[in-house]
Amino acid sequence: MAHITASVYTSHVPAIGAALDQGKTGEPYWQPVFKGYDFSKQWMKDHTPDVIFLVYNDHATAFSLEMIPTFAIGCADRYQPADEGYGARPVPMVEGDAEFASHIAHSVIQDDFDLTIVNKMDVDHGLTVPLSLMFGQPDKWPCKVIPFAVNVVQYPVPSGQRCYNLGKAIGRAIASYDKPLNVQIWGTGGMSHQLQGPRAGLINKEFDNNFLDRLIADPEGLAKVPHIDYVREAGSEGIELVMWLIARGAMSAKPPKVAHRFYHVPASNTAVGHLILENQA
Ligand code: DHB
Ligand code: FE
Repeated sequence: MAHITASVYTSHVPAIGAALDQGKTGEPYWQPVFKGYDFSKQWMKDHTPDVIFLVYNDHATAFSLEMIPTFAIGCADRYQPADEGYGARPVPMVEGDAEFASHIAHSVIQDDFDLTIVNKMDVDHGLTVPLSLMFGQPDKWPCKVIPFAVNVVQYPVPSGQRCYNLGKAIGRAIASYDKPLNVQIWGTGGMSHQLQGPRAGLINKEFDNNFLDRLIADPEGLAKVPHIDYVREAGSEGIELVMWLIARGAMSAKPPKVAHRFYHVPASNTAVGHLILENQA
């Protein structure tokens, strides 16, 4: 049986990818950001899974106002890094797992969550920046990735509760796959940030740290926070945080081991938050 060993949570600020690609990680502005991921890169070497189920959001790259799936699962064998206006990032092609993704789609849809099936898409910074933060700059990503795109860009967005419940269904789907795969589930995006309007630049350290505390110890309660609270407290793009609840919902009911926790302000316009939670055997 496939089993989830751990979940990883991280922001996906595009400027982090640019800093890495342009060799600026040692600059005083970026050094403290990347330092927070030194532990994580070693941990990934020690805990490389077979497959990462990577929950992220597309930023009007593969999708647009012409088509807005709430939840979309990538069932392809490969995904190219997207050109988001400055050329594609110089990172490896992302290898998928069509058979496993198709099993998860079947299980989750029969479990009453209506997913959109995607057989071709390019992946943007929402997916590639977390991979870069956790793996550095390898020639090839060391495992397969199933991209799972959530609409947190165009209202209406899914609630935290819906995301948390969906995570549980994804956990059941993974547990019912008959290959002995070591699987991690990642929740990405956030933390507090607002990129536009009069409140652009908003950061809320108190909200973010409370979110991290509750994601670890009180995910059931955290799932009940309505979307308007995210927008008011964490800024218009802070709503990306509901994706972390999908990953948390897929974890086992036992309290997880907190392997790593990191928080840093600022990176571009965003508060960077990062957690690694291990499922207890
Ligand atoms: C920034 C953060 C994001 O999450 C994003 O998608 C784009 C930009 C930023 O802080 O610059
Ligand atoms: Fe974003």
